[in-house]
Amino acid sequence: MADLEVKLETQRQTRQTLSPICFQVQHFGSSHGVKMQSLLLLVLCAGLCFASSDIHQHNIQTLMDNVVVVRVPYAHGSMVEVPLTCGDTYEHKDVFWKKNGEELTPALQGNQITVLVKEMKAGNYSCHLSSSGEHLNYTLILVQLEPDNRTVILEGNSPEEGHIHCSAMNYKGSFHCTWKKTQHRSHAAVLLVKASRYLDEISCVVDADGSGIQCQDIDCPYKEENNPIHLTIYMHSYSRLEAYTKSFYLREIVRPEKLPNLHISSGQVFSWAYPDTWEKPRTFFSLHFQVKVVHNGQSCNSDKIILDNITEETKYDVNIKSKKYVFCVRAQDKYARGPWSHWSQCIVNKNEVNCQLP
Ligand SMILES: *[C@@H]1O[C@H](CO)[C@@H](O)[C@H](O)[C@H]1NC(C)=O
Ligand SMILES: *[C@@H]1O[C@H](CO)[C@@H](O)[C@H](O)[C@H]1NC(C)=O
Ligand SMILES: *[C@@H]1O[C@H](CO)[C@@H](O)[C@H](O)[C@H]1NC(C)=O
Ligand SMILES: *[C@@H]1O[C@H](CO)[C@@H](O)[C@H](O)[C@H]1NC(C)=O
Repeated sequence: MADLEVKLETQRQTRQTLSPICFQVQHFGSSHGVKMQSLLLLVLCAGLCFASSDIHQHNIQTLMDNVVVVRVPYAHGSMVEVPLTCGDTYEHKDVFWKKNGEELTPALQGNQITVLVKEMKAGNYSCHLSSSGEHLNYTLILVQLEPDNRTVILEGNSPEEGHIHCSAMNYKGSFHCTWKKTQHRSHAAVLLVKASRYLDEISCVVDADGSGIQCQDIDCPYKEENNPIHLTIYMHSYSRLEAYTKSFYLREIVRPEKLPNLHISSGQVFSWAYPDTWEKPRTFFSLHFQVKVVHNGQSCNSDKIILDNITEETKYDVNIKSKKYVFCVRAQDKYARGPWSHWSQCIVNKNEVNCQLP
């Protein structure tokens, strides 16, 4: 028994220091390794796009195509001159500018101009041909406070969680992050997402409702997880720019999906299944389960507990006298010990058993 404990402990420690995926590589996928590495190299080179470059002043930077960021210590009273160019192609053209789609008085004319950004009063400057009004080009000027720690666009969760919550259903490299905009910033929009692990870029797609991203780390399944994933979300609200960052290892955010197929199989024996999305083989990527029985009418998080136990089986015999109770079960990676799944539950009321999802 003691030997088994020691062995389990060692396994656990090994799986804690390495991504479980590595085990998959070592145990089951080594012949794939070389092929995948060359595929990786191709993908790795695909996206070297977010380099920042200095313009004239150190506090003005090009964040991405057509977007310039002015960094100021305090918005109050700040004034920064920002040089704008419509484009080399229009050097000898008669160019005029609009701010946020409106002409300015006095008119701003010329291919190269300088605008004064007072406090947060920046905007979207577009240049046009004087003769036809034809739209030529634009530069969006945004203001970011430096340091950028007085954020107002996103709501903070707990101090350790920060503003962004990320979760994955397994170790395949796909993960989803969400955030919540504050009440008065619901119009704020994602400007840019940067995600990477060490030198490798990770591609992300912004959710349709603008309050999350779906990312795929293609690198992940084939390497040890020695480096964390770094995430930066640039959000803007009018002219205000805020950058939100988060760093994590995939193993810290892998949370099994809610357990499916929970039912009473016989007498008071409850059974459930591994989530379909969980890693296989299950003998290797084992889950363990927390089983909890709480009083009738209570939620699974209640501390009015009748029974609380851990099992590695996908069934549990509830040996209690009460005929009215709530049976709860949730899962966690037995070795990596990441986040617990959400609870699955059955409400038992004498002979009536309801295991429908709430
Ligand atoms: C449009 O403006 C951007 C600066 O915002 C500049 O980098 C780019 O070269 C311009 N495009 C053209 C076609 O001149
Ligand atoms: C800025 O203006 C250009 C055209 O004038 C438009 O294409 C672009 O979407 C605008 N950007 C923002 C963030 O409003
Ligand atoms: C922001 O950071 C600066 C410098 O690091 C610090 O002095 C200040 O107290 C911070 N402000 C907040 C609101 O955390
Ligand atoms: C906990 O569950 C195990 C089966 O997984 C069982 O053998 C044990 O008796 C249970 N302990 C308690 C206190 O109910």
